[in-house]
Amino acid sequence: MSRHAATPATWVDAWEPAIGAERATAAFRTRFDAEPDGVWSAPGRVNLIGEHTDYNGGLCLPIDLPHRTYVAFRRTTAVAADDAVVRLASAQEPDAGLWSSALADVRPGRVQGWPAYAAGVAWALAEDGHAIGGFDAVVDSCVPYGAGLSSSAALECAVAVALDEAFGLGLAADAGRARLVAACIRAENEVAGAPTGGMDQSSSLRAQAGHALLLDSLDQSVRHVPFDLAAAGLALLVVDTKAEHQLADGQYAARRTACEAAARHLGVATLREIAPKSLDDALARITDDDQPTEVTQRRVRHVVTEIARVERFVALLDAGRVRDVGPLMDASHASLRDDYEVSAPELDVAVDAARSAGALGARMTGGGFGGSAIALVEVGAIDAVAEAVARAFADAGFHPPAFLVAEAAAAAARTA
Ligand code: GLA
Repeated sequence: MSRHAATPATWVDAWEPAIGAERATAAFRTRFDAEPDGVWSAPGRVNLIGEHTDYNGGLCLPIDLPHRTYVAFRRTTAVAADDAVVRLASAQEPDAGLWSSALADVRPGRVQGWPAYAAGVAWALAEDGHAIGGFDAVVDSCVPYGAGLSSSAALECAVAVALDEAFGLGLAADAGRARLVAACIRAENEVAGAPTGGMDQSSSLRAQAGHALLLDSLDQSVRHVPFDLAAAGLALLVVDTKAEHQLADGQYAARRTACEAAARHLGVATLREIAPKSLDDALARITDDDQPTEVTQRRVRHVVTEIARVERFVALLDAGRVRDVGPLMDASHASLRDDYEVSAPELDVAVDAARSAGALGARMTGGGFGGSAIALVEVGAIDAVAEAVARAFADAGFHPPAFLVAEAAAAAARTA
């Protein structure tokens, strides 16, 4: 029940897996007049902390959402058949019709729009030496699109686990899943053309229910950190600001390029090698020909301090002190807003309003420039904080936001 009828909060509930599987199956039958071999699904994610660190060899700490993308899938030709065809449809784009391509024509530069994220995975797995054949797939999803909650990775990873099982690739165990992660990253980077790091795909394929995934991007190693907010009387509120973000545009790439250039300048492979205690020294050595040195210094300071915040956050979780992580979330947001400059007015309003309404900590999550924010709140305060954020958006003249409650859910798997 909303206590403020003028600004009711809109909630985006996750589908029960059986419902998601039924929806995808029904859409597949309508589209292809046939039964799928099965339905595979993969989750979106929110990152607790460790933003813009993954492409710097750093640490991040995502959890999977209960919101998933469902792929009803049917293998249509034997592996490596010359006439193999990929046919795709999306329940989110009913007017777009059926997308179809010879498998041999799926490669960088040849696939536009959302099919790049799906068909691109088949290309990347083939590049990795796996034998893939033709297939039909229909996608349906309750992961909010364009909300910075990894709808792209959810699509890639659902297709990846479907391809793995349908073509007997044997990549189901964690070592195999790391190969699937790599294929999904290549699909996104090379076929879809978005120069993202690997956090989203690692989370969607490798996280565990009830745990946050501590991902070390230096070597892709992971640790599953128990994350049980309910036991602490807390909840994680996600605010989809509806300010659409677009990672394929220049800003994300520009941040990545600046970090890589700074690392080269400092003579390190990645900014991960800059220890917090030598940060001032590193900053003093930076010069940049492409943008003011002061800007590059702030970018580097964000990355180095953010990695240290992940370590402190995980140490608090390990010590059973989840109630104490709020200030780290706040500091992460300030660093992303002021040093890395990837926040947006909607994200700042969401974070400030959530804190004023009693959140223990709040920050933007994901790539930024729009998308979503997260707030750590008392279970009993979820509605009040959401309503306060909705009111602040109305006062600022923004589009109404939408809200989710994030619980650490399960990774990609076969659903039906
Ligand atoms: C996006 C990218 C990730 C990561 C985050 C920022 O979500 O897909 O690889 O870089 O932004 O932390």
